[in-house]
Amino acid sequence: MKRVITYGTFDLLHYGHINLLRRAKELGEYLVVVLSTDEFNWNEKKKRCYFSYEQRKILLEAIRFVDLVVPEDSWDQKRLDMHKYHIDTFVMGSDWIGKFDFLEEEGVEVVYLERTPEISTTQIKSNLKKLQLT
Ligand code: CTP
Repeated sequence: MKRVITYGTFDLLHYGHINLLRRAKELGEYLVVVLSTDEFNWNEKKKRCYFSYEQRKILLEAIRFVDLVVPEDSWDQKRLDMHKYHIDTFVMGSDWIGKFDFLEEEGVEVVYLERTPEISTTQIKSNLKKLQLT
């Protein structure tokens, strides 16, 4: 069984996320999503999530392309995760091109999928803010 892994925050889940998860799952038979914890988001990315880790996890677990959701709490865990979850393919969106090529050293294939144009969590938040002002 080919095992695929991807990482992200997936706050305010949107169709760009779903597209990414669907195409990731198509690369294999089992998809692990490593979901950034609230602390990791705040401390490392200076991002405050609208939905908590537990809420984001519930949403991801309800998606049929997703088989397992586990926490991401450090930048360094990726190399270990490849072995811990017996991964064949590591997938990220094209905003990360080249950033994770080093994982090939762990024996996995590294794939960057084209992002879905226009939509993002940041975009949703800013559009909602603009709507409130009109
Ligand atoms: N993604 C995508 N297409 C989009 C938005 C996100 O393919 N339009 C992918 C990202 O490339 C990443 C995964 O979905 O591999 C999770 O991205 P995340 O950063 O959680 O979502 P964004 O909407 O990009 O959030 P933000 O605006 O906070 O960066």
